[in-house]
Amino acid sequence: MKGPVVVTGASGYVGSWLVMKLLQNGYVVRATVRDPSNQKKVKPLLDLPGSAERLSIWRADLDEEGSFAEVIKGCEGVFHVATPMDFESKDPENEIIKPTINGVLSIMRACKEAGTVKRVVFTSSAGTVNVQEHQEPEYDESSWSNMEFCRRVKMTGWMYFVSKTLAEKAAWEFAKENGIHLISIIPTLVVGPFITTTMPPSMITALSLITGNEAHHSILKQVQLVHLDDLCDTHVFLYEHPNAQGRYICSSHDATIYDLAKMFKERYPQYNIPQKFEGIDEDVSRVHFSSKKLMELGYKFQYTMEDMFDEAIRSCWEKKLIPFHTAEGHGGEVGKKKPVNSASERESEFGEKEALIA
Ligand SMILES: NC(=O)c1ccc[n+]([C@@H]2O[C@H](COP(=O)([O-])OP(=O)(O)OC[C@H]3O[C@@H](n4cnc5c(N)ncnc54)[C@H](OP(=O)(O)O)[C@@H]3O)[C@@H](O)[C@H]2O)c1
Repeated sequence: MKGPVVVTGASGYVGSWLVMKLLQNGYVVRATVRDPSNQKKVKPLLDLPGSAERLSIWRADLDEEGSFAEVIKGCEGVFHVATPMDFESKDPENEIIKPTINGVLSIMRACKEAGTVKRVVFTSSAGTVNVQEHQEPEYDESSWSNMEFCRRVKMTGWMYFVSKTLAEKAAWEFAKENGIHLISIIPTLVVGPFITTTMPPSMITALSLITGNEAHHSILKQVQLVHLDDLCDTHVFLYEHPNAQGRYICSSHDATIYDLAKMFKERYPQYNIPQKFEGIDEDVSRVHFSSKKLMELGYKFQYTMEDMFDEAIRSCWEKKLIPFHTAEGHGGEVGKKKPVNSASERESEFGEKEALIA
């Protein structure tokens, strides 16, 4: 048996899949959630193979100083995945930015006090790298987003980009001053199947061409993607790799919104997918996120872009989170495994609005 390791935000989209991967890899896992009595969030974790023997659920909140001290005590590793993800927050400074920064520092302090933690893995975000006035053709781990630009323009998700950037920088500073071995993983947009019961935040963006949520189209304009399973494998790979150091971009595909619109139109003809986007040039170029550093360490990505979306959409269908077709659209064979028909296929039963607040 390996571990014990802590996973924060374990009931979320990435956290729950990571818990599954760590259990598969033989780890003893301590999973933190804000409300252990919330069965809807905790049951998918308790149902995982190996959970009865090697998983425990702990309560911890990024808003409460010292909240992670108990769970981290005696652990050999910490995967800090939790983050507030509410793009609609009315008070972003207090609800998103402060808890993200204070939370990571509180976790780092708990690691120092515990004295048993060999490595901390921080799940960062592409939002810490390329949110800048002008896009470069390619990004690597040396780049940081421009905070003044985020705060001035206030684009969709700006508070998330600010929170993640400032939190990652604070974590690096603390790690250097206190001799903590920190690794940060920088995922781009994560797409893939999921075991959570509600609509994951990144699916709201990734499937916005299907659901018609235009506020998220700006994020897809020049986007990069990674499969959830590749991302979680990367977490385990880097945690275990003796030579892992610093930041690691984890991204396997680059696309533009036009690439995605074309792919959706071909694979999912039952949805009305827009093919033109106001204010976005049809020749808009792809922006490359380089995972060279990760691949040079020996990691090989396993999934195609089609895999990511087919599996994500299948999970959404199975959990009734998106309709099977656009209301005024037409039916047809789609993607790969369209779930069987039933009365519940009617769009009225789980239209987009319902899906997004599920
Ligand atoms: N998904 C992506 O496309 C993507 C891309 C880049 C980076 N990331 C990073 O991946 C990580 C996980 O994201 P996700 O997509 O899995 O989002 P998610 O499904 O919303 O999960 C986030 C988790 O954070 C927890 N959380 C929120 N506020 C908290 C607080 N105050 N205290 C403790 N826990 C709190 C939530 O816990 P509760 O269950 O208790 O509400 C939730 O389980 C984040 O660090 C994110 O920045 C994700």
